[in-house]
Amino acid sequence: MTFAEWEQHARWWQEGFTDGADPEYVEQIVPLAAEHLRGAKAVLDVGCGEGQIARVAGDVGARRVVGVDPTWAQLAVAGKRGGPPTYAQGEARLLPFRDASFDAVVACLVFEHIEAVDSALAEVGRVLEPGGRFLFFLNHPLLQTPGSGWIDDHILDEQYWRIGPYLVEDSGLEEMDKGVWIPFVHRPLHRYVNAMAAAGLYIERMEEPAPPPGFLERADEYKDAATIPRLLFLLARKLSPS
Ligand SMILES: C[S@@+](CC[C@H](N)C(=O)[O-])C[C@H]1O[C@@H](n2cnc3c(N)ncnc32)[C@H](O)[C@@H]1O
Repeated sequence: MTFAEWEQHARWWQEGFTDGADPEYVEQIVPLAAEHLRGAKAVLDVGCGEGQIARVAGDVGARRVVGVDPTWAQLAVAGKRGGPPTYAQGEARLLPFRDASFDAVVACLVFEHIEAVDSALAEVGRVLEPGGRFLFFLNHPLLQTPGSGWIDDHILDEQYWRIGPYLVEDSGLEEMDKGVWIPFVHRPLHRYVNAMAAAGLYIERMEEPAPPPGFLERADEYKDAATIPRLLFLLARKLSPS
């Protein structure tokens, strides 16, 4: 597994989606993360990028915050942006931490880039203490499949949201911007839920928020799809051994 595309395009992510640049983070993801991280003492941010969610964990009072990411170009900027978190290079399927060493783990828009979903979620379960929480943010895997999008059919006079081949697991590079190719994995929602259950992670809350106003204002065509969520958030709890 290489992370060459992320090394090459880390700046595309940092400039377009962090430091207040992206309304979905500012209006939706950061507030949800703050709400559900409050009260956690030791937080691990898996696939932390330049650290925007790790910094939220510090802002809401966590005493120990660690971010892990395989991409050096992300970690270098994370270090410069400062704050309480510390950072380590690593990937989700092999987390460099002892069992039960965190009371919260967060993964934000990361698992759709990870091939080894079962071992990565098993690792989340392993490093969480019993009763610990897992905050899981994903591009909505049902409604944002490859090939999905708003269709305005002038011949049949129909407008609808097309869903691509949902049940087919699929991985490949997607062009996110001119020349910016990023590896994505599509898998159906049950793959995530069942892998979480196998890892002892039981879902206690689910959110499918509507795209926030700042996103809808960016283009007229986005308003057509205002009832189609882009984000899925799951809050899971690590089971205590019986
Ligand atoms: C879309 S960015 C999200 C960054 C950060 N979580 C945030 O919300 O700003 C995805 C991140 O996942 C990281 N990543 C890719 N594959 C990974 C893997 N196998 N394990 C952990 N992180 C990975 C990338 O390096 C990148 O920083």
